[in-house]
Amino acid sequence: MTDLRTATPPLTEGTVQTGAQTSAPVPHALQDHDVSAQGVTKSFGKTEIFSDVSFRLVRGEAVALVGANGTGKSTLLRCILGLIPIDRGAVELLGQDVTHAKGAQLRGLRANTGLVAQKHNLVPRLSVLTNVIHGLLGQHSGPRYWSQSFAPEEARVAAMEALEKVGLAHLAARRADRLSGGQSQRVAIARALVSKPRLLIADEPCASLDPSAGEEIMAMFFDLVRSEGVTVVFTSHHIEHALTFGDRVLGLADGHLKLDATAASLAASDLRGLYD
Ligand SMILES: Nc1ncnc2c1ncn2[C@@H]1O[C@H](COP(=O)(O)OP(=O)(O)OP(=O)(O)O)[C@@H](O)[C@H]1O
Ligand SMILES: [Mg+2]
Repeated sequence: MTDLRTATPPLTEGTVQTGAQTSAPVPHALQDHDVSAQGVTKSFGKTEIFSDVSFRLVRGEAVALVGANGTGKSTLLRCILGLIPIDRGAVELLGQDVTHAKGAQLRGLRANTGLVAQKHNLVPRLSVLTNVIHGLLGQHSGPRYWSQSFAPEEARVAAMEALEKVGLAHLAARRADRLSGGQSQRVAIARALVSKPRLLIADEPCASLDPSAGEEIMAMFFDLVRSEGVTVVFTSHHIEHALTFGDRVLGLADGHLKLDATAASLAASDLRGLYD
């Protein structure tokens, strides 16, 4: 397939004024990046999933990661978060090297990152409120954050505020296994937002929802992240979602990053090529 990568800068790329001199585009190296991947290669056993993947995400950007099933989108997100080791290359998250980070440093980085996973992994027998309070566990370890009954007042207040943002405050006391798919997805978003992360990773945030619920949840999710200035990486199988909600689109195919372009410069037909 053709390589769709373009040299188009991200939408948020600005210019610098250097005294009385003319303005010049800010080179990537000087910008504030929340994620920087350089030559990332990942295999499971002898199977190489992708190789030499490089990209950078500017603060406040929303980036859609697209590609066919099994191309490695979820794997790449896990590499970014340092949840699984990479074979070659380097990843910087919030300005720090994830590749070699361990223990407290890795926990600190993850505490500033929210995750909405492909399977939302709510604890079924616990209440909605407790599940959202669990979103604070990256910042506060210990049993007080395991349940709403022991949680400090400020944690309960923060969790109720996050539930209000996703329109589910009235279901705070309901058990998570008694929610609809769309409601569960909203709770997973509230859990990711409660710690006020700087970076949000959302792996198919509206998977398993019908198109109209999916549309509504994406719109709500992006209203929230835009209003809070959060950097977002999301995967989606909906080409329209990638183009509508992403500032930039990254495309994985055949083990390589084949596309890195601004959403504004792309048409749906450009993305369909990734699925051939
Ligand atoms: N822990 C693992 N061990 C071995 N192989 C794995 C593991 N996790 C993922 N894979 C394989 O890596 C490849 C990429 O998987 P991944 O889940 O990243 O794809 P994806 O692009 O997210 O797919 P989808 O669109 O279906 O979510 C697949 O072939 C998958 O079977
Ligand atoms: Mg996936």
